Amino acid sequence: MSPNWIGSGCRVVSVAWLSEQGPVPMVWSRSGTLVQSRQMTKKGRGSGKAHRFGGSWTSTKLDVLAGYLESYTTALKDKPTVDRPFRLGYIDAFAGTGYRDARVESSGGPPAQSLLFPDLAEEEPQELLDGSARLALKTEPRFDRYIFIEQNTKRCAELKALKDEFPGLSNDISIHQGDANEEIQDLCNKVWSSHRAVMFLDPYGMQVEWRAIEAIATTKAIDLWLLFPLGIGVNRLLTRSGDIPESWRTRLNLLLGTEDWYDEFYEKQTTTDLFGDEQERVIKATMETIGGYFNNRLKEVFAGVAEEPGVLRNSTNNPLYLLCFAVGNERGKDVALRIANHLLNEVR
Ligand SMILES: C[S@@+](CC[C@H](N)C(=O)[O-])C[C@H]1O[C@@H](n2cnc3c(N)ncnc32)[C@H](O)[C@@H]1O
Repeated sequence: MSPNWIGSGCRVVSVAWLSEQGPVPMVWSRSGTLVQSRQMTKKGRGSGKAHRFGGSWTSTKLDVLAGYLESYTTALKDKPTVDRPFRLGYIDAFAGTGYRDARVESSGGPPAQSLLFPDLAEEEPQELLDGSARLALKTEPRFDRYIFIEQNTKRCAELKALKDEFPGLSNDISIHQGDANEEIQDLCNKVWSSHRAVMFLDPYGMQVEWRAIEAIATTKAIDLWLLFPLGIGVNRLLTRSGDIPESWRTRLNLLLGTEDWYDEFYEKQTTTDLFGDEQERVIKATMETIGGYFNNRLKEVFAGVAEEPGVLRNSTNNPLYLLCFAVGNERGKDVALRIANHLLNEVR
């Protein structure tokens, strides 16, 4: 079965939606590159409050995403042809509410224990600014289809309300309540030959599973932006002593899709003490090694991967997440990587 946004095979750009949004300001990043043109509002249609840019890692990741979405739909606008038709989708698998959560941004993330119990890690939004789902809905040229996956019932209800805010797009918005890993696999098992999509995986912590990443790569049709929980998750579960509780090991296995990470991340060193006795100690890998390992895992399954992911840091400059980019389609790989690398240059 094809993904359910399959239609006549030709893209239709909704002029009605463009006019509903009114004038859209151009937005420039601190470096002076055009990131996007979008209307930035606090919650409440027409409130017209400016979205604040710069400074935080949440703004950074959303700047990069929004910049990519606009470049992507622009680059592929005239690409579907009669011979090679395809339709464009945006899939947000940890969609949230459509609004940005300022408190999570400032907190620096959940404690290690709650990474294993995601509900404990999720806080209620305090300040409501545009989140990824709304940014995608505001992208021009528009996507043909928007799929928002979210586990939380209340947040799904908020996502449904976006249909009223974007009436010109409402028929093309689907909300899937469920676990992202399951939903992604369902979607990716469909026939993708006449579809292309951008997928955004923006978990709080360790929720993404390798089987979902592999399924995304298998479509050969999806460009993936993924937050890898380097400092906020993986590095914290990798204890200094190398003794890792079984539940933490299981979570690492699920995320990395293998059990061989232990030997990559821990080196055993034997030294001889003053009395000639041998002492064994383990040396834990640096964050650089851990990040490099994951990026290499992506390279095993995707056509192309950004060599240097972005690094999202907290206010004390500690890395929280890597912002990774991978492209599934061999044919579109070079252009996609060029755009992604350009955007990531600001975040390295
Ligand atoms: C960091 S927030 C997403 C923020 C969103 N991308 C934005 O920019 O507004 C992560 C979201 O993932 C949801 N979530 C957590 N675990 C999930 C899972 N296994 N499947 C689907 N959604 C999940 C949470 O309820 C939360 O809304």
